[in-house]
Amino acid sequence: MLAWRNGRRGRFKTGWALTREGSTPSVSTKRIRLVAIKQKSEREWSMSVSIQPFDIEDYDAVVAFWEKQDGVGLNESDTRDAIHLFLERNRGMSFVVRDSGSVVGAALCGTDGRRGYLHHVAIAKEYRGKGWGRRLVEICLGELKKCGISRCNIFLFADNEAGEAFWKKIGYRVRSDLKVMQCVLD
Ligand SMILES: CC(C)(COP(=O)(O)OP(=O)(O)OC[C@H]1O[C@@H](n2cnc3c(N)ncnc32)[C@H](O)[C@@H]1OP(=O)(O)O)[C@@H](O)C(=O)NCCC(=O)NCCS
Repeated sequence: MLAWRNGRRGRFKTGWALTREGSTPSVSTKRIRLVAIKQKSEREWSMSVSIQPFDIEDYDAVVAFWEKQDGVGLNESDTRDAIHLFLERNRGMSFVVRDSGSVVGAALCGTDGRRGYLHHVAIAKEYRGKGWGRRLVEICLGELKKCGISRCNIFLFADNEAGEAFWKKIGYRVRSDLKVMQCVLD
């Protein structure tokens, strides 16, 4: 069964398909009998989407993905060299979510040996609300636990209400007794 829209393949948003049986897509839509408009099932989602370790080879695709996500701020710590260093220092802790090769989620995870840190946790809009964010974080936290880390911090833009709701839902709490302070090293 082919999935297509307006006589062209690949135009529909991921997860939705107009289909017909036993023929190839054609621009002459009049003769076409649409036999199904269906939503991708949970099983189909989980079959095509996978969470894999973040390799430096993923860098370009992941940064291109992060650049499109609200709530993710990139800076000088996100150059290829800086991310390479981070991944080397925190081997096997960061992950990428892929659907048929395309990056649809990512997270950087690491530790200073005392606390864990998650950075740039993001899931593509079309894939949100399906548990991928939670799974991605759980996998990262699992790696931290293996290293004996018992607490994991995140940094969230103060106006990111949706992000805060997500973190609270998965067990995080705001430490209102603490403030983040920072200095810039020249
Ligand atoms: C935050 C983000 C990663 C969540 O990813 P997601 O895949 O949609 O999250 P999940 O589907 O795994 O949701 C996990 C739980 O959080 C809840 N949740 C997720 N987003 C929520 C929101 N905006 N408001 C309320 N609850 C929310 C879900 O309902 C779910 O609860 P449940 O398990 O009880 O059903 C995603 O929205 C995103 O990429 N946002 C933009 C980037 C960002 O802001 N990242 C955080 C910066 S650190």
